[in-house]
Amino acid sequence: MSGVRRSRIAGCGSYLPARCLTNAELAKKVDTSDEWIVARTGIRERHIAADGEFTSDLATKAAQEALADGEMAIEDVDLIVLATATPDQTFPATAAQVQKKLGMHHGAAFDVQAVCTGFVYALSVADNFVKAGQADCALVIGAETFSRILDWEDRGTCVLFGDGAGAVILRAGEGDGTNKDRGVLSTHIHSDGRYHDMLYVDGGPSTTGLAGHLRMEGREVFKHAVINLAEAVDEALEENNVTPEEIDWFVPHQANKRIIDAMARKLSLDESRVVNTIDRHANTSAASIPLALAEAAGDGRIKAGDLVLIEAMGGGFTWGSGLIRW
Ligand code: ACO
Repeated sequence: MSGVRRSRIAGCGSYLPARCLTNAELAKKVDTSDEWIVARTGIRERHIAADGEFTSDLATKAAQEALADGEMAIEDVDLIVLATATPDQTFPATAAQVQKKLGMHHGAAFDVQAVCTGFVYALSVADNFVKAGQADCALVIGAETFSRILDWEDRGTCVLFGDGAGAVILRAGEGDGTNKDRGVLSTHIHSDGRYHDMLYVDGGPSTTGLAGHLRMEGREVFKHAVINLAEAVDEALEENNVTPEEIDWFVPHQANKRIIDAMARKLSLDESRVVNTIDRHANTSAASIPLALAEAAGDGRIKAGDLVLIEAMGGGFTWGSGLIRW
């Protein structure tokens, strides 16, 4: 190759469990209402994995759809990077189970843990493997079963999350190093462990020996999200010498419609250029961005050559952004 190695998007796919849980159903279990949830978050319903349906099952179905979308065989893939905070087991990596379920017996598969920023982290890792020449074709998956770590009696958190999976395939291509290249143009990842107590799970193999439940200071997370995401987005635009007007599609992590709206306002982006799935998916953590990408690419909104901006913020705190020329 004489030019610059780039990771091109070669396919994408998604999977949502069959069971759909509405706000009205939730209001029968905890002291909440459809009106409160919609007004504060934009969420109307979420999908919940069935008994015996694991994160690796959701991930495998999303990966299979991505392979079909890219008209590719699993033999073409040499790397699986899976972002999840809800692995099937403490070990082995859920990615290795997905590898098995896809019938892949070569290459490497591992998990990345950055909670809701997981997909941006996984994309960053896989993009760097491809750019460095250590992989030619990577499956990047975000998959979660947050329903398994929710405290279903805590109305402040249980109404916010859902289960699902999304996947994209990165394939090595060539560019000339400008923002007109097709592929991942840049990724920007950050973390600050001082904010642990604002968003964490109160268990784990080394502490309690149990999986634990999600705990969150929602208002504090909200405040940090707006500041950190704005900085990460500016970083991506500056790095690539791109103005907000040049963005074709804004595909944010789907945590809260109010956070998404605040970011779109900051970028002066019309709602018609923002991909929103929060009403139907709720917050699926690491799965939310690839689920939204698969939906918008699948229905023809995102087209070849479009400039796509992604961003996310999650426990850690972690946060990040990325620019992709589709
Ligand atoms: N139904 C009805 N009332 C509720 C509910 C509910 N489900 N939950 C909380 N309330 C009440 C509170 O008790 C409070 O009542 P009070 O005023 O009598 O004390 C009132 O509603 C307001 O509560 P707040 O927490 O201040 O509400 P807020 O407007 O901040 O919305 C929310 C809460 C939706 C959680 C918001 O703060 C948020 O979205 N935060 C960010 C979440 C996020 O982005 N997470 C990121 C990633 S997640 C990850 O990494 C795993």
